[in-house]
Amino acid sequence: MLAFFICTLLYLSQYFKEMNILILSRNPALYSTQSLVRAGASRGHFIQVYDHFYCDFYIESGNMKIYHNGYQVNGIHAIIPRIGASVTDLGSLLIRQFESMGIYSSLSSDSLLKARNKLSALQILAASGIPVPKTISTAYSEDLSGFLSLIDDYPLIIKLVNSTHGIGVVKAATRTDAVAIMEAFIQMKGRALAQEFIRESEGIDIRSFVVGNKVVASMERRAQEGEFRSNLHRGAEAVSIELTQEEIDISLQSAKALGLNIAGVDLLRSKHGPVVIEVNASPGLEGIEGATGVDVAMEIIKFLEKQVKE
Ligand SMILES: Nc1ncnc2c1ncn2[C@@H]1O[C@H](COP(=O)(O)OP(=O)(O)O)[C@@H](O)[C@H]1O
Ligand SMILES: [Mg+2]
Repeated sequence: MLAFFICTLLYLSQYFKEMNILILSRNPALYSTQSLVRAGASRGHFIQVYDHFYCDFYIESGNMKIYHNGYQVNGIHAIIPRIGASVTDLGSLLIRQFESMGIYSSLSSDSLLKARNKLSALQILAASGIPVPKTISTAYSEDLSGFLSLIDDYPLIIKLVNSTHGIGVVKAATRTDAVAIMEAFIQMKGRALAQEFIRESEGIDIRSFVVGNKVVASMERRAQEGEFRSNLHRGAEAVSIELTQEEIDISLQSAKALGLNIAGVDLLRSKHGPVVIEVNASPGLEGIEGATGVDVAMEIIKFLEKQVKE
């Protein structure tokens, strides 16, 4: 009897010390997912990975539930959503369902939506006084050429508001090119923005990785020869760098403005100082961990532990 009691107590103490963490990821084999699983397990947590595609919603006033592959999801202390750009809507709905069940999420549904759309992110950043490149956007303009004259410094950058990995980010050499590209995007029903080209950045951008109220790692990405986009998916190279205090402050302010606890803030060094071009709500870990040697996944898990405890 006593042995049974001791065993039960030991079992329960384990249960209260460690957490059941659920990672939402379309592919458990991805580097970022693997990294989080490894870090979480090494801290003694029970980690599961669910594909958000196979999560179902039950909605009733005061009684929200989630099913995964037909089984009700129970006993989860925290979720870490890894939501790709192609499933933003589904991802944000699922996060909201978890939130409504009182489960802590490292990324809020609201912040995911705010950050994912470049125009909405720039609106929020600029309104918070954070420096961003001059940007204009239109869904329809009879006089695109006249509208573009609001910036009129060529080359000009044109991007789809939901571009990722640099796809949908183009450079227009002249106003005629810019009008033609904007027309094509508008015709395709793609929401586009035009933005001043920060030529001094010369194909180099900075990724500052924020966890909580700290920049835990930062890298510089250098575009391939002849390319202005410094995305790793476009063949850029990454090296670890030290940020200036101003860059650290801007990174933290940007994450805070968008309500993100975990964020990949992308900065360009302009002649007027750092400007933020985008903030990633589900930043990849492979590039940053590879370039800096920092165990960013571990930082995320430790942050989560503190948040859930609070
Ligand atoms: N205004 C700009 N001036 C100079 N380079 C830019 C500008 N905007 C984007 N870039 C380059 O293009 C890359 C991709 O743009 P970004 O806005 O980050 O879109 P994505 O979400 O597709 O990565 C950036 O990493 C940067 O190298
Ligand atoms: Mg980017």
